[in-house]
Amino acid sequence: MDRIKITGGKQMHGEIPISGAKNAALPLIIASLLTDETLTLRNVPRLADVSMLFRIIANHGVDQSFDGKRTGNSDIGGQTVHITAREIVDTTAPYELVSKMRASFWVLGPILGRCGYAKVSLPGGCAIGTRPVDLHLEGFKALGASIDLVDGYVIAKAPGGRLKGGKVNFSFASVGATHNVLMAAVLAEGETVIENAAREPEIGDLANCLNKMGAKITGIGSSTLTIQGVEKLHGTTHSVLPDRIETGTYAIAVTMAGGDVTLTNTSAEYLPVFLDKLTEAGATITEVENGIRVQRDPKTPIKPVDVTTQVYPGFPTDLQAQFMALMTIAEGSCFVRETIFENRFMHVQELARLGCNITLNGDTAKITGVKQLRGAPVMATDLRASASLIIAALVAEGDTIVNRVYHLDRGFEHLENKFRGCGADVERLSEE
Ligand code: UD1
Repeated sequence: MDRIKITGGKQMHGEIPISGAKNAALPLIIASLLTDETLTLRNVPRLADVSMLFRIIANHGVDQSFDGKRTGNSDIGGQTVHITAREIVDTTAPYELVSKMRASFWVLGPILGRCGYAKVSLPGGCAIGTRPVDLHLEGFKALGASIDLVDGYVIAKAPGGRLKGGKVNFSFASVGATHNVLMAAVLAEGETVIENAAREPEIGDLANCLNKMGAKITGIGSSTLTIQGVEKLHGTTHSVLPDRIETGTYAIAVTMAGGDVTLTNTSAEYLPVFLDKLTEAGATITEVENGIRVQRDPKTPIKPVDVTTQVYPGFPTDLQAQFMALMTIAEGSCFVRETIFENRFMHVQELARLGCNITLNGDTAKITGVKQLRGAPVMATDLRASASLIIAALVAEGDTIVNRVYHLDRGFEHLENKFRGCGADVERLSEE
């Protein structure tokens, strides 16, 4: 199994191109199930989760073809994929596939919407809390579906073969439930209103693409989505929006290591609260054309900053672990509170191996900055937690070896190349 070796103490200078968002690419790929015409997606990141999803939708009968490299393309750059679900040959998503990636549960909405029937295994995914799917199921029921749970599978049926528009009011603004129910509603008969919909930019990206495919969705970007159902969707071409979590992760890395890096192909607009917090911590953030410039003189101390994770536009839970890593060398103490997921502090015990001083109390971590971190062997436990270990290792004395890096490969494209391109000493140790 591959490992990543980081030798701390190097500043970062240069440019890092940001990839297409994993969390937008996944629902967009799934949206291809809604039409028998071809959906062309550009800027699709090369990630293990994306490859896995292609395997999963292939099982439903979806053809996929990938463009090769074109003149002017860099080695780091998204791919263009043509996806065609001419016919849904299998309405079942089996446990063997769905258990590998939680987001694959979202095939339920479009298959149910298009075929009037779907059987999908309950999901797996990162081990961060219990992560139920009750909100998804409530949404489908509001659209007239009958739901049965049999042998670990959700069996959803639309009476008469077609869902009917309805009123959905989520008790929590779940990202996944919003994606899933939105994709079901676009082909339902009549109007659906989703109240307390999640407002993450990736939902807007999906809704905009669905509208290009012929859906009628209004209220995009707000917490009320109104959908006039249509009988059929058609193909289109859509470019995946930039990955705000990758953007934030590198912004924290540069702040940690010190230096001057421009993150390109991205935008500050997707990270409202986060960038203010990073500035408070000591980074200088400048919006530039096509990106964000992040600077910090390593002699400038890092200030302790409290954060609480919230749904968008609040501080993203997917940047909590990375921000905590930064706080481990702050001049003083601060609190990081996690309100979205229970049990999303698995990075704490690994950060402790590098000499970090963190204590946990329920949903809150108290971080007291230390003068110097020291390299150590550590274990990646989930996607974002792994990134936090690399960030801490950037300033640790000596070498850190991160084991189980397959978690990183699920969500960070060309991670070591992007770091190395800016002077950080991050190397992949591949095993035969
Ligand atoms: C998505 C993102 C993930 C991010 C999360 C929150 C993708 C592929 N994943 O995950 O990176 O961390 O949003 O921004 O886009 N919940 C329920 N019942 C449900 C659904 C969710 O109780 O039916 C709870 C979950 O257990 C969790 C919270 O709601 O505690 C947030 O979940 P949700 O917003 O659905 O996150 P995901 O879509 O799983």
